[in-house]
Amino acid sequence: MRKPLIAGNWKMHKMLAEARTLVTGVLDKLDESADVDVLMCPPVQLLFPMAKAVANTKIMLGAQNVHEEASGAYTGEVSVAMLKDTGCSHVLVGHSERRHVFGETGDRLAKKVRAVVQGGLTAVYCIGETLEDREAGRTTAVIDQQIDEVLASDVSADQLIVAYEPVWAIGTGKTASPEQAQEVHAHIRARLASVYDAATAEKLRILYGGSVKPGNATSLMAQPDIDGALVGGACLVAEDFTAIISAALTAV
Ligand code: PGA
Repeated sequence: MRKPLIAGNWKMHKMLAEARTLVTGVLDKLDESADVDVLMCPPVQLLFPMAKAVANTKIMLGAQNVHEEASGAYTGEVSVAMLKDTGCSHVLVGHSERRHVFGETGDRLAKKVRAVVQGGLTAVYCIGETLEDREAGRTTAVIDQQIDEVLASDVSADQLIVAYEPVWAIGTGKTASPEQAQEVHAHIRARLASVYDAATAEKLRILYGGSVKPGNATSLMAQPDIDGALVGGACLVAEDFTAIISAALTAV
């Protein structure tokens, strides 16, 4: 049985005071004993104060990006060890905005995933097709390529989570239907079985992302291969994020 994970990707939102209000609002409604993992990925300037804000709670802290090198002359970048030092346990790698806005390639993402895992953190590796890919019938080919160019047996499955986020559903209000999402999730799990083995793929958590809201979270997470959500817009509002966390519990 895979424990659900609800992850919030704050993207480039929230000032310190707003962030404190959001975390307090989520903690107020969070059942610490609930059988769900919760991850928050604030922007980098908030990692240290948010680490303090979530200390001794079930909320885990993640970063939205990382540089693959350990240290050096990389102006503006942050290493895995630095993120670990601020209290991060997870790092998003390959989010569609990193791929499409910042031009990160499979080659680069393969290095990042390895840096994260070798540095002792968990990588949340994001994959997903564009609308053009889907309409051209290339969804599974794109997914397979994104998996094959980055994941291999040297990436510890114990420190890996996969997030399927169709690019056309991110921030658009369009969500994949539960059936569409389940179909791709099942494909991803089968592909992960060929990278690792069937038993390992069964244990790996695959999150769905792309316009997840309180109103659609339960039906998405009720699907057998959807093990939680990577939430953008709705994670910025405490009531919405906590409603999605509750949905993960009722969907089981
Ligand atoms: P969204 O973002 O929920 O606002 O669509 C999801 C994401 O980009 O991770």
